[in-house]
Amino acid sequence: MDEVEFDKFADEYRDLHAANIRLSGESPEYFAEYKIADIAAELARANAGAPSRILDFGAGVGYSVPFFARHLPSARVTCLDVSRKSLDIGAAKHGSVAEFRHFDGARIPFPDATFDVALASCVFHHIPHEEHVALLAEIRRVLTPRGWLFVFEHNPLNPLTRHAVNTCEFDEHAELIGASTMRRRVRAAGFAAVEANYRIFFPHALRGLRPLESQLKWLPLGAQYYVAARGAI
Ligand SMILES: C[S@@+](CC[C@H](N)C(=O)[O-])C[C@H]1O[C@@H](n2cnc3c(N)ncnc32)[C@H](O)[C@@H]1O
Repeated sequence: MDEVEFDKFADEYRDLHAANIRLSGESPEYFAEYKIADIAAELARANAGAPSRILDFGAGVGYSVPFFARHLPSARVTCLDVSRKSLDIGAAKHGSVAEFRHFDGARIPFPDATFDVALASCVFHHIPHEEHVALLAEIRRVLTPRGWLFVFEHNPLNPLTRHAVNTCEFDEHAELIGASTMRRRVRAAGFAAVEANYRIFFPHALRGLRPLESQLKWLPLGAQYYVAARGAI
């Protein structure tokens, strides 16, 4: 793979993202941090212990790295992406605390069972749908047998999310995936205990209502969702 789509957005990724989510009243960092906090909470709920190696699949410029350090400090983080330019920017900023590796789009350059946890944050809607199951299976290969997968995606059922995606320069070719479709694909890739939870119901102006979100995870109206799964139960 030579130049890829996100090479051309790598420099201005944060600014484009910030403009795109303006209606939410939140920053890109808010959206990055809630995901890692959710992962840490899921692992704690399951008494999974502290992960020692985490794969950030499609990590881009490494937005999540500081939040892994905050919420899962014992983990060594590997950021993988097809965009060399994004990786260069990420490594320049976070290279002392995370590893940045190029992905050829097919084979993750690590042996079987390397990672305890894998995250894919807003990546799969940039990948042709017919490749999803094979890529999820490739992620499963590099996870330990009881390792965890977390796939965060935009919810196509939320009209504000659709508006944000339709007006975002780097989402021009995005094809959103519904939560039940993503669950089916994660199962088809061989994962177990596959669950979907909806997230981000309230903008910054209504942040006082956010404690209610934990009771709304079933409601398909959140702006985003995540699918959590295990390699085996
Ligand atoms: C919207 S950005 C998300 C970046 C980061 N995960 C985040 O949450 O800020 C999507 C990323 O997916 C990457 N990507 C696109 N196709 C990919 C593929 N086949 N494998 C891995 N990453 C891919 C892009 O290069 C880009 O960095």
